Amino acid sequence: MSQAALPRRRLRVFMQTERKDAWWAPQLLTFVVFSSFIVYATWAAFQGEFYAHGPYLSPFYAPELWGTSHHAWFGPPPDWIPSWIPFTPALLILPFPGGFRFTCYYYRGAYYKAFWQDPPGCTVGEPRKSYLGENSLPLIFQNVHRYFMYAAVVFIGLLSYDVWLALWWETPGGGTQFGMGVGTIIMFVNVCLLASYTFGCHSLRHLVGGSKDTLPKGAVGKACYDGCSKLNTKHQLFAWASLFSVALTDLYIRLCAMDVITDIRLF
Ligand code: FES
Repeated sequence: MSQAALPRRRLRVFMQTERKDAWWAPQLLTFVVFSSFIVYATWAAFQGEFYAHGPYLSPFYAPELWGTSHHAWFGPPPDWIPSWIPFTPALLILPFPGGFRFTCYYYRGAYYKAFWQDPPGCTVGEPRKSYLGENSLPLIFQNVHRYFMYAAVVFIGLLSYDVWLALWWETPGGGTQFGMGVGTIIMFVNVCLLASYTFGCHSLRHLVGGSKDTLPKGAVGKACYDGCSKLNTKHQLFAWASLFSVALTDLYIRLCAMDVITDIRLF
């Protein structure tokens, strides 16, 4: 049977396209939002103050291993950290959630387009003539995503514990009392969004997806796989929602600690 010859792929010059829609708009939005987040998170991480208020601890500083707030696990910063090294509790832990987000499969697709235009968009001319993939330096390092995922799962447990601690308020007598403020709810919503993002991770879904070529057969394994798969379908949504929530949670606690706004105690 004769087959019709397929049309030859036409190579476009960089940015050339026949598209009439605003294909560049999502890329521009990604560039602005992601850049703003990086600038804010870097500024907040180097601040080293106003990251705790009452029972609240900013997610950028959790867990606080060494620090000046009462949340610190091991007390004030140790003497063995040289004074010429800029130290804040956030700088010790942010590489883990930061690395997880930076190597996320969804974000890679988004920032490859938005930041270095490779590719700029579907059917838009690329800066290169060949596709090299992520199997050589430096992009081969993106494969560490699975290891960052292990750390991210631990962080969900730690941040959940911080929400629990945000329910216990110091009393004038030095004891603690069960209560809830607006900040507790903000921290709770933040950890829910972060968990929805983390548990929908492609690497985690692969991990719980059974053994080679077979899906899990046990009830627990199947429930985990189905749960991951469901969250995975909304991975993009949770990626952005959790990015906003983590920054806004830090901002809320920071403004309370600076006495710019007053936290409302609900009970
Ligand atoms: Fe996005 Fe793993 S693929 S967090």
